[in-house]
Amino acid sequence: MKIALTYNLKEKDESKPPDYFSEFDSEATVNSITSAIGKIGHQVLGVNVSKSDLFTYFKKNPVDMVFNIAEGKHGRFRESEVPAVLDYLNIPYTGSSSFSLALALNKALTKKILKAENIPTPNFQVFSKGSEEMDIDLKFPLIVKPNCEGSAKGINKHNVVTNKADLLQVVKETIKLYNQQALVEEFIEGKELTVGVLENGKCKTLPILEIDFENCKQSGEYFYSWRMKEYQGNTALGLVPVFHCPARLDKEVEERVKDVVLKTHRAVGCLDISRTDIRLDKNNVPYVLEINPLPGLDPKESNFPIMAYAAGMKYEELIEAIIKSASERTGFN
Ligand SMILES: Nc1ncnc2c1ncn2[C@@H]1O[C@H](COP(=O)(O)OP(=O)(O)OP(=O)(O)O)[C@@H](O)[C@H]1O
Ligand SMILES: [Mg+2]
Repeated sequence: MKIALTYNLKEKDESKPPDYFSEFDSEATVNSITSAIGKIGHQVLGVNVSKSDLFTYFKKNPVDMVFNIAEGKHGRFRESEVPAVLDYLNIPYTGSSSFSLALALNKALTKKILKAENIPTPNFQVFSKGSEEMDIDLKFPLIVKPNCEGSAKGINKHNVVTNKADLLQVVKETIKLYNQQALVEEFIEGKELTVGVLENGKCKTLPILEIDFENCKQSGEYFYSWRMKEYQGNTALGLVPVFHCPARLDKEVEERVKDVVLKTHRAVGCLDISRTDIRLDKNNVPYVLEINPLPGLDPKESNFPIMAYAAGMKYEELIEAIIKSASERTGFN
């Protein structure tokens, strides 16, 4: 097959805030996927979505399928842009539809669906101004997040608050800085888990990944904040989370987590691949924080490949499984 890889490459621009390009992919990721698709035996074309007019590009360069990891260019529905264009051009692509990508990018809307499906997710309130009355049922500590970002953008340790004055301050800052609603959630103390779903023939979970921040305490960071993600592995900064895959869980808890994750993948309508972030509370209730239909695929750094390796897959096999899942769905082989 002739496959185009659609991506947004990280850029360097000192005039932008430090987390501006965090969602975008590194050259290492793009090169690794390109080389994996080539090794599988397909012809591959790279398309940096930030620099391309997709309509013109695909008219000039017809392809059989797109391997999509692009985060899109603008606004609240940016991850939907590429799938929407590909649907218009009738080109099959890997991964979720524009609908699921837009939904998952809106954390509060996703949580409403999860609640309707009886999937545990932390209690929450959305603030549009910062002057709203606080919901009296919400229990501190709370965490404030931009409602429509990823890669932990706008999520730092001072976003965890223990009183109303701090809450409203951080809510206002978040709304202003990210020009969007702020999501306020109960902060779930407990194990951090993330779980990959790969629909290779069947909709299946990969071994659960537990991320342990115990070793990072001296750095002052204690959860998967932006700083933790950005500088993960930096020993001088003490940002050295320990990964356990499979996670250290009882069989029964493991099954409960996997069940919740598969239900989440289906409730949001994800296809081929997704990664769901979970916090396990002291009663072992798995609370879904969010689902990522475009999980990072850096072969060394990203959570999803770590889970695939624990399942015995090589990087090429992971990429092949995603293509196979999409091919079977769309009728290509
Ligand atoms: N309600 C919560 N309780 C405890 N920790 C939380 C909560 N919400 C967020 N966190 C912490 O902040 C991290 C980032 O939050 P979240 O996954 O919602 O943001 P994101 O930017 O979409 O992440 P990603 O980088 O996976 O795209 C979580 O992995 C977790 O460590
Ligand atoms: Mg997350």
